[in-house]
Amino acid sequence: MNPKMPNKSLHCLSFLLLLTVAYAHLHVDHYRHSCPNVEAIVRSAVKQKFQETFVTAPATLRLFFHDCFVRGCDASVILATRNHTSEKDNADDLSLAGDGFDTVIKAKAAVDSVPQCRNKVSCADILAMATRDVVALTGGPTYDVELGRLDGRISTRASVRHHLPHPDFKLNQLHSLFTSHGLSKTDLIALSGAHTIGFAHCKLFFDRIHNFKSSNRIDPTLDPAYGKYLREVCPKNIDPRLVIDMDPNTPRKFDNMYYKNLQQGMGLFTSDQSLFTDKRSRKIVNLFASNNTAFEQAFVAAITKLGRVGVRTGNQGEIRHNCAMVN
Ligand code: HEM
Ligand SMILES: *[C@@H]1O[C@H](CO)[C@@H](O)[C@H](O)[C@H]1NC(C)=O
Ligand SMILES: *[C@@H]1O[C@H](CO)[C@@H](O)[C@H](O)[C@H]1NC(C)=O
Repeated sequence: MNPKMPNKSLHCLSFLLLLTVAYAHLHVDHYRHSCPNVEAIVRSAVKQKFQETFVTAPATLRLFFHDCFVRGCDASVILATRNHTSEKDNADDLSLAGDGFDTVIKAKAAVDSVPQCRNKVSCADILAMATRDVVALTGGPTYDVELGRLDGRISTRASVRHHLPHPDFKLNQLHSLFTSHGLSKTDLIALSGAHTIGFAHCKLFFDRIHNFKSSNRIDPTLDPAYGKYLREVCPKNIDPRLVIDMDPNTPRKFDNMYYKNLQQGMGLFTSDQSLFTDKRSRKIVNLFASNNTAFEQAFVAAITKLGRVGVRTGNQGEIRHNCAMVN
């Protein structure tokens, strides 16, 4: 009846859309006015922590992945509850190394020691920056990090269920899980390259070397010599706390050795090796194995997309004062 109505509501709608886009969008210079030196402050804290222990690097990188895949990149993985019912208390997160949490807490303290920056920078953003810094510190690519995430107020053990990949997953399961977070097959393969650094507990690939298909065989997709080596370093009845390097060749270097290992049957988990065993992903593995620049470019694109998963804005979150507790 009112000819102006549709126009007006359309206008209103596009205004709302614009608002949503502006809010949901992350910016590399988000803290330009509120805390202009935030990147240097975080980098220096991360570097100091890294000099104390190498585990800082793999622990922080994995923590970021686990944060983003459960309720989005909102530092919910860092929240702790007295009754042990947070994300980090789920079995899938119990092996997250404490040094990753410690890195974020130390970098947050460094940021908050600058009066202008106090309580201005989210724990989720600090984790994203620290992740970028540990990749660079171990020889990986450098990249700009998008910022502007808010910290979530909810963290439950139950919400982890079905959101994190397991080491016995094959390509189909990995692909559908990554797709559900808006990540492509190429992103999956590039991000799996994170296993070029860090450690794994023997029990996670025990069946591949001691109990394949409930027999005393070694998984035939494993290189026989590597399988034999794994049996030696991870014998039956091993101390369950024992860890080994995931990349036996260049364990402390963020490089494309991971893909070269896969070509040799030296992927530690079924999830790793299946990227090469399966014809649908082998081509990309071969590309990353032969061209480190191609790997680095794909990794930067993928981790940037990972950093956008489920980002909280507006009243969906807060800037936590203590990364382990809601305000
Ligand atoms: C594709 C599916 C993936 C599976 C099934 C998987 C599984 C695992 C498992 C089981 C461990 C060993 C944990 C332990 O024994 O303590 C591990 C370690 C690790 N993962 Fe993954 N992961 C996957 C993808 C990723 C992604 C996307 C990233 C990061 C971008 C990542 C980063 C790491 C790092 C750095 C470590 C070493 C942690 C440490 O040394 O403390 N992983 N992963
Ligand atoms: C655990 O503690 C949190 C708050 O810290 C509370 O919301 C939750 O209901 C508690 N869960 C159980 C099972 O007691
Ligand atoms: C490696 O990959 C990069 C980036 O995709 C590309 O520009 C370059 O030409 C490739 N190098 C070779 C030798 O194929």
